[in-house]
Amino acid sequence: MLESKRVLLIVAGGVAAYKSLELVRLLRARGAQVRCVLTRAATQFVAPLSFAALSGNKVYGELFSLTDESEMGHIRLTREADVAVAAPATADLLARMAGGRANDLAAAALLASDKPVLVAPAMNARMWARPATQRNMALLERDGVRRVGPAEGDLACGETGPGRMAEPEEIAAEIERLLPAEGPLAGVRALVTSGPTHEPIDPVRYIANRSSGKQGHAIARALCDGGAEVTLVAGPTAEPPPARAKTVRVETAEQMLAACRAALPVDVAVCVAAVGDWRAAAPANRKLKRNGAAGRRLELAANPDILEALSAPGPARPALVVGFAAETEKASANAAAKRKAKGCDWIVANDVSNGGVFGGERNRVQPIDETGAESWAPATKAEVARRLAARIAAALAARGARA
Ligand code: CTP
Repeated sequence: MLESKRVLLIVAGGVAAYKSLELVRLLRARGAQVRCVLTRAATQFVAPLSFAALSGNKVYGELFSLTDESEMGHIRLTREADVAVAAPATADLLARMAGGRANDLAAAALLASDKPVLVAPAMNARMWARPATQRNMALLERDGVRRVGPAEGDLACGETGPGRMAEPEEIAAEIERLLPAEGPLAGVRALVTSGPTHEPIDPVRYIANRSSGKQGHAIARALCDGGAEVTLVAGPTAEPPPARAKTVRVETAEQMLAACRAALPVDVAVCVAAVGDWRAAAPANRKLKRNGAAGRRLELAANPDILEALSAPGPARPALVVGFAAETEKASANAAAKRKAKGCDWIVANDVSNGGVFGGERNRVQPIDETGAESWAPATKAEVARRLAARIAAALAARGARA
């Protein structure tokens, strides 16, 4: 996602500066070009040579160094970057940024930047909690500066609390989110449901199903890769969500419906989740005891149908609503009937008769729209997702639709 993006990395003087070396490595592995500016204090913690070696670029430090200014002034440093990232951002750097100072190259470059700016604060927990630091951070956020972290944990000073710099992976993901999206789905808002639901019977038991969330998460990822702004509403699953998506985790069908409604308006909704059709009519607040009973009846109540609710005509209806239909027999006929019954635009018939689909890597699907069914060869779930994202991009472009 960071292919040929240019990152200006400002490293301030904190113990966490060593983690920024890993950040440089990660960014480069994702295709970014990285230029580093180290404050004088930063060079007490890490060697500029390490940053030069990992970034493959000269490292900058002195505002008034003649060579630096003739080869690369602070204005050019920011002009030739797509994003500026301060990691670690110390309390002192945040204060200088908030005050509009330009008293070293790092501060001057950040002040001169008209590109998105991200800070990853790292400091002692009490320094972070001080009103002065909180005030500075709030000011910066009001000015449009984005923040990632700090995380809670053991700090280098031996104390524990919020102050650890966010992990390099997290910072890289935030950088990806910050950069303006490119791709056939840029500007498109998408909603994806994924995974199973858990419907409680009592505090320790629930009704679930075998959905792994792999296909739904892959679709969310493919839509993100196409440049869409994606909300992923995910039931309980171990599948990692795509970094760029806004992920809302839910347990039950009713929570899933509420999260979907909150994500509207969107241009496209893709309902991949295996939503439990029923929930316990009266979940117990205490664990049901066996008490020697040989059997027990469980009364079920019908869950809302999310796909049907999103497909209902009205001002909030997405331009395109796509459902999935897991079928073990007469896949295309049953799925076509489901498309009509639920009122969605497309339904992707999912042949689960051979086993191996739930939790597996491959899928065999047939998208069905008002013109009929298309047969796709069996493919990996990632490939199915990419093809579906391309089909969605083409359909939205044809309709000229944007929420
Ligand atoms: N779906 C939903 N809410 C529900 C049930 C299903 O949004 N309460 C959606 C699924 O996400 C999927 C589609 O409806 O996109 C079809 O799901 P499926 O389980 O195949 O259909 P059901 O309506 O449950 O029909 P049946 O189980 O009888 O085949």
